[in-house]
Amino acid sequence: MKLFTAGPVACRPEVLEEMSRQMLSHRSKEYKEVHLETVERLQRFLETENAVFLLPSTGSGVMEATVRNCVRRKMLCCVSGAFGRRYVSIGEANGRDVERLEVELGKPITPDLLDEKLSSVPDVEAVTITYNETSIGLTNPLQELARVVKEHGKLLLVDAVSAMGGIELKVDEWGIDVCFASSQKCFGIPPGLAMTSVSEEALRLSEGAQNKGWYFDFKLFEKYLKEGSTHMTPPIPQVYALRKQLELIEKEGGKQKYFELYLKRSQMINKGIEKLGLSLFPQKGYESPTISCVNAPEGMSGVEVYEEMRKRGFELAKGYRDLKERTFRIGNMGYILPEDIEEMLEALGEVLGW
Ligand SMILES: Cc1ncc(COP(=O)(O)O)c(C=O)c1O
Repeated sequence: MKLFTAGPVACRPEVLEEMSRQMLSHRSKEYKEVHLETVERLQRFLETENAVFLLPSTGSGVMEATVRNCVRRKMLCCVSGAFGRRYVSIGEANGRDVERLEVELGKPITPDLLDEKLSSVPDVEAVTITYNETSIGLTNPLQELARVVKEHGKLLLVDAVSAMGGIELKVDEWGIDVCFASSQKCFGIPPGLAMTSVSEEALRLSEGAQNKGWYFDFKLFEKYLKEGSTHMTPPIPQVYALRKQLELIEKEGGKQKYFELYLKRSQMINKGIEKLGLSLFPQKGYESPTISCVNAPEGMSGVEVYEEMRKRGFELAKGYRDLKERTFRIGNMGYILPEDIEEMLEALGEVLGW
């Protein structure tokens, strides 16, 4: 199967090979070097001097961690799809008072809407934003939204799960307090690791947080980071893989080149879709470069397209929940070559009867 999924995605052979290295003790000096080198590379990639934690978790775990460490009572969740809604559920499951700013599916959160909402709920402590809403293939204008959050003096929590590694992200310049992603997305690493940057302010809040638990305690991550490890056993193969991927990105021309690669591939996918008479679901101008959400063709459901593509050796992603029948998705994350895209589009043409 060739993977054009929403994650886990295909990994580069060099990265997979790296994962087959022999284990180390996570308390050894050798592991400490690997851990700290990976953290430093990630700090460079994210343009941040904030602490960077390698959490043995997926992105959802960090969502929960941000609530427990950084929100005492009330938070605002920006909802432009299923993962914004997941933040609401996690906030509520942890007993927080959750305000929402929800837009019609397919539309982005705009700075004006956020400004208006924040003016009406001045007592929220933190704002959550999904940078790239994977469920509908939409990228929110994070840089502008971050400015609004900071003008209102709130803590900014960014779900960059399907953005980090594929779309520009400047943690310090944009003022992001906590920013996280899962390994199985744009960096093209197997699941099990969540990369997370945490600001001084977020750490200060964590220090005074009640009932934050132990596993996801940011202060413990900070303490153990100084020792080049984590307070539990880290997923060492994934850390090897991340170090390798970041090293390859630096060696092969840097992160801008990598973002351009993502853009080129997504343009190739989206042009191909257009040629086949199909259209994208999100509002024009906000289409994600890491995943395309495509309106199903007339006379065929999104699920039928997905199943027909599987028969031809291509694993796409079904439309998410309510959009299952109306859409299907073509992921553009991880190890994908131009010829894979050509073959996938050819197979899609065949499915549509071209
Ligand atoms: C935008 C976004 N946020 C959060 C998640 C949850 O991540 P995980 O499955 O790694 O917990 C996903 C997963 O697809 C996602 O796409």
